Amino acid sequence: MGDMRPIRNIVILTGAGVSAESGIDTFRSAGGLWEQHRVEDVATPEGFARDPELVLRFYDMRRAAIQTKAPNAAHEALGRLDAAWPGELLIVTQNVDDLHERGGARRLLHMHGEHLLAWCTSCDMRSPWTGPLIERPACPACDTRALRPDVVWFGEVPYHMDAINGALREADLFVSIGTSGAVYPAAGFVRSARALGARTLELNLEAGKGASWFHESRLGPATELVPAWVEEVLASR
Ligand code: APR
Repeated sequence: MGDMRPIRNIVILTGAGVSAESGIDTFRSAGGLWEQHRVEDVATPEGFARDPELVLRFYDMRRAAIQTKAPNAAHEALGRLDAAWPGELLIVTQNVDDLHERGGARRLLHMHGEHLLAWCTSCDMRSPWTGPLIERPACPACDTRALRPDVVWFGEVPYHMDAINGALREADLFVSIGTSGAVYPAAGFVRSARALGARTLELNLEAGKGASWFHESRLGPATELVPAWVEEVLASR
C-alpha cells in the first residue's frame, strides 16, 4: 500500500463479486442475472407497473435463494475488520443479500436496498420479509396490500447517499471489492475519495471500469484477496 498519512478512516464499497463465491450470481458475468432477465422488465418502476407479477416472482426467487447461501471468507474477514478497527469504518454495499451481516459486519449500509425487507408503497414502512410477495400480502403496519421489494431499481435514488458522501469526505483509504464499476453513483465513489486525498485500492477478479482511478489493484477471488488484505490492515494498526 505504500506509505501515506496514517490510515484512520476506511470506506469499503462491495459489489456482487464479494458474494459470488457464496453461490449468488453476479449481474454482468457470463450467464449472470442480466443475461437471463431484461433489466427493464424486472429492475425498473416501469417494469413493475407493467407486470407486477413478473417482478414479484423474480424477487421472490432471489429472496428465497439467498436464504440458502452462507457468507464466505471475504464477508467474515470484513466482519473481523469491522469488529477490530479502532478508527472510522463503513462498508457500503451494492448487494441486496444479507451475507455481510451474517459475516459479522455492523457498520454497513445497503445503498441498493435489501432482499429481506418489504416496502409498503402505501404507508412507506419497511418490514422484515423472508417469504414471497406474489400473493400481495397485507402490510404489517397499515394492512394495505401494497408491498414491493425494498430494492432500489434503475431510475430510483440509492439509499444513504448523505452518509456515504460524508464518509468519503473523511476517508483515508477507499477499498472497492468485487464490483464492475458499471453503475453510478457507486462507480464514482473512487474518484470522489481520491480527489479528497484518500488512498484507493481495488480488489477484484478482473479490473473494473474505474481501474485507472485506483492507486493499487489486486486481481483474484475475494475469498483470497480480502482476508489477506484485512490481516495486512489489522497488522498496520
Ligand atoms: N471475487 C471477486 N470479484 C469477483 C468474483 C470473485 N469470486 N467473481 C466476480 N467478481 C467481480 C467481477 O470481476 C465484477 O467486477 O464482481 C464484479 C461483478 O460485477 P457486476 O455483476 O456488474 O456486479 P456489481 O458491480 O455489483 O453491479 C452493480 O448493478 O445491476 C446493478 O444493482 C445492481 O448492485 C448492482 C449494480
